[in-house]
Amino acid sequence: MLGGLHALVLSGRASWYDVGAALEEHAGFLAEAVAERPVQTNEVQRCWVLLPCFLELARRSGYDELDLVELGPSAGLNLMWDRYRYVYGAGEWGSADAALELRGAERRAIPGELLQERPRIGRRVGIDLSPVDVTNDEGALLLKSFVWADQRDRLDLLERAIATLREEPPELISGDIAEELPGVLARRRDGSLTVAWQTAVLGYLPDEDRERVYGALEEAGADAPLGWISAGGSARDPQDEWGLRVRLWPGGERSLVGYSDYHGAWLEWVA
Ligand SMILES: C[S@@+](CC[C@H](N)C(=O)[O-])C[C@H]1O[C@@H](n2cnc3c(N)ncnc32)[C@H](O)[C@@H]1O
Repeated sequence: MLGGLHALVLSGRASWYDVGAALEEHAGFLAEAVAERPVQTNEVQRCWVLLPCFLELARRSGYDELDLVELGPSAGLNLMWDRYRYVYGAGEWGSADAALELRGAERRAIPGELLQERPRIGRRVGIDLSPVDVTNDEGALLLKSFVWADQRDRLDLLERAIATLREEPPELISGDIAEELPGVLARRRDGSLTVAWQTAVLGYLPDEDRERVYGALEEAGADAPLGWISAGGSARDPQDEWGLRVRLWPGGERSLVGYSDYHGAWLEWVA
């Protein structure tokens, strides 16, 4: 309901100062919003904690080109991570002309050498049950409407990320990752490292489908090089933070590389 109201306010059709009037005038739109527009978010600040993970996989694998596969990317804003600029204690990464600059709090610093890694990006593919097309204004409005209306900084990041994505949108496949991932991994290219990842997605899957996803990764990794990044439960504080883990095939060695805030506000790098 608040997302629906926010969409009305953002498009100039209602005001937060007269919600009563909006509820009366737009009852039909709001009823439809509640019934048919499930909450959709795409948190671009997460790129600030993901970038060191991508660079770590580039460093460990020695590949200088990465093909990206995001599971549950929503609008795909995080598939554009190399187009943003990043600030860390040890230095900066990304183009000075980037429309979006991301910063956060480092609880344990990332090493400066990691920021020397400059992998090129080949492909960008996402698989989502209901991808949001932010190349049109309706999709952009939908995504903005689900940011709390007083979080101006978050809305600003979102707008800048949308503008960046519109320059060269990623490929978004509409479907279930348990079904689609094996086919996407089968189309990997020689000469570049495919890196798949998920943030805030696997938790929505039934156990059986989550196992199918892990099985698809294992099977593909047994066949050709593959990287994997996952933000998941943290053993030391399961309520308040993520553990960031990477895997690299051949071998599929797993390692915990950091802890982070769920929305990417802070990072503790431990690799
Ligand atoms: C909370 S959003 C996270 C979006 C993005 N990963 C991020 O971190 O900003 C979860 C996304 O996962 C997608 N999703 C959930 N279950 C899925 C499934 N089984 N297959 C594909 N996408 C799924 C949803 O449609 C939604 O876009």
